[in-house]
Amino acid sequence: MKKILITGATGQIGSELTPVLRVRYGDQNVIAAGHRREPDSELAASGPFCSLDVRDAAALEAVVTNHEVDTIFHLASLLSAVAEDRPQLAWDINANGLINVLEIARKRNCSVFFPSSIGAFGPLTPAENTPQDTIQHPNTMYGITKLSGELLCGYYHKRFGVDTRGVRYPGLISYSTLPGGGTTDYAVEIFHAALQYAHYDCFLRADTRLDMMYMPDAIDAAIRLMEFDGERLIHRNGYNVTAMSCSPMDLAQEIEKHIPDFTIGYKIDPVRQGIADSWPRHMDDSVARKEWGWKPQFDLPAMVEGMIRHLSSRLTAK
Ligand code: SER
Repeated sequence: MKKILITGATGQIGSELTPVLRVRYGDQNVIAAGHRREPDSELAASGPFCSLDVRDAAALEAVVTNHEVDTIFHLASLLSAVAEDRPQLAWDINANGLINVLEIARKRNCSVFFPSSIGAFGPLTPAENTPQDTIQHPNTMYGITKLSGELLCGYYHKRFGVDTRGVRYPGLISYSTLPGGGTTDYAVEIFHAALQYAHYDCFLRADTRLDMMYMPDAIDAAIRLMEFDGERLIHRNGYNVTAMSCSPMDLAQEIEKHIPDFTIGYKIDPVRQGIADSWPRHMDDSVARKEWGWKPQFDLPAMVEGMIRHLSSRLTAK
């Protein structure tokens, strides 16, 4: 990786991956591209930024060519709840956007990182210890685009030799940028509400257990996989990775240890509850551990401690 393009750089993952890659590879060698959100001042000042809609293949090609990009972290995507609300748009951004990235990667010999998700499974998948290779019949548009993405990445590798790699992320928890439109967003919102109001009304049932991960581990997974010797990767795409499996109730109990008067209520959103109910409770990520040394650093208590510490200093600074 010498010249890196990050699509979706202003999103939840991109806004944290960009600064880490800039420290590692040099500010000028990491081109941040965003579309729907404006970059914050730090992101815009620390290196090249361009406005880019991944549905525009010509614009994408121009950025890759002009900057002599050799690696693309393709993070631009709609999340699960917005995708359910706007399925055609979700297909256009998530699936057609990826095809554009893969095509330019084929022409310009770029490596591609593609984040798939727990959403790529479905109600027929075993929910406990979800295997790496298993039934995938997603019943949401988000899941359909993510599964198609895994398959397309695999196809471009096999058919054209494009160096595609990717993981299936669980719900990601971060303090820097809000996710926006996902089913696991509650796990981020709960911290903002706990610190500001000592109360949160959760849109998922108390016992809805799902895989989760603190953002530093998610960033580490992406970089570790992309820096690993490609010859030694067997699966390449759609690696299960997880760090913890918890429900809103588990999360609330852990938060209470730091904010004793915190209370949680439940106002269920049937759409997002339905999506969550179709996802695994806990993925088996032993294949990622074995093939490229995946190992998370943050469990539930460590993540909650980090979130509260970082978010409270951010909120005080405002
Ligand atoms: N966090 C995502 C969502 O909830 C899942 O990949 O949509």
